Amino acid sequence: MLQCGKARLRAPMDIEPSQPCIGVFDSGVGGLSVLRSIRRALPAAPLRYLADAAFAPYGERSDEAILERSRHLVAQLLSQGATLIVVACNTATAVAIDTLRREHPHVPFVGVEPGVRPALALSRRRRIAVMATEATLRSERFAALVQREAAAAFVHAQPCPGLAAAIERDLPLQAMLEGFCAEVNAADVDVVTLGCTHYPFVRTQIEARLGPGTALLDTADAVAAQVARLWREAPDTEPGCRLETTGDPAALRAFAARWLAF
Ligand code: DGL
Repeated sequence: MLQCGKARLRAPMDIEPSQPCIGVFDSGVGGLSVLRSIRRALPAAPLRYLADAAFAPYGERSDEAILERSRHLVAQLLSQGATLIVVACNTATAVAIDTLRREHPHVPFVGVEPGVRPALALSRRRRIAVMATEATLRSERFAALVQREAAAAFVHAQPCPGLAAAIERDLPLQAMLEGFCAEVNAADVDVVTLGCTHYPFVRTQIEARLGPGTALLDTADAVAAQVARLWREAPDTEPGCRLETTGDPAALRAFAARWLAF
C-alpha cells in the first residue's frame, strides 16, 4: 500500500494482494470529508476509499438502487482486506446500513447520520435545520432519529436536490444554495447541521448565506472518533491511503489533491 501523501487510483476491478484496512465508501467525493477526519485521527492506519461516482448521486435514486450499490461496494472493500467499513454517506447509511450489518454480522460498520443531537445541544432556542438529500430525509431511519433525539424540538428538514451532484461535478451551485439557504433562514433556526458528506466542501458558501449567529455543524470528526475507538490495527500493517472510483480517476485525483493535500 502506498504511503499517505501518494495515493494512487486504480481501476475498480484491479485488486491487489491486500492487508487489513479500514474501508470507506460514498457515492462519490463526499466521503473524502470523512476520510480527511479519519486520517487526522488515525494517521498511521491503512485506508481504502471507494467512490461510486459512476452511480452518483445516490440521493435521488430509489432505496433499492442505493442498497444494491452499497452491497456491491461493501463486497469489494471486504475482498480488498477491509476489516472495518465506514459508510461515509448519510444516504447509504439511512437506506442500507441495517441490512449491511445483518448480512455481515462479524464486520464492524460505522455510519454517518445528521448530527441532530449535537445541533440541539448547541441550539439556544431548540430550533435546528438539517440539510440533506431527499433519500436521507424520507428514510425511516431519519424519522426515528428525530423522534428519538428531538421529539420536543423543532427540526426543519431541508432537502437539497442537485447539490451533491453539483459538488461532485464542479458545476455552478450559487443559485441553488441561495434557494436552499433562504428556506432554511425562513424556518428561523439557530443551528444547521449538514446531513450529506458532500456539503462540507461548500461549507463557507453555506455559512455566508445563513442568518447572523446561525451555527453550522457536520459530523466528520465525531465519525472519525468512533472509527478510532473501533479500529484494531493488525501487526505489520503499513500506513497508506488508496483511492478508487467507479468513475473518472482523474476527477477523483484532482478533488483529493485540492481538499486532502494528496
Ligand atoms: N454524500 C452522500 C451523503 O452523505 C450522498 C450524496 C448523493 O450521492 O446524493 O448523503
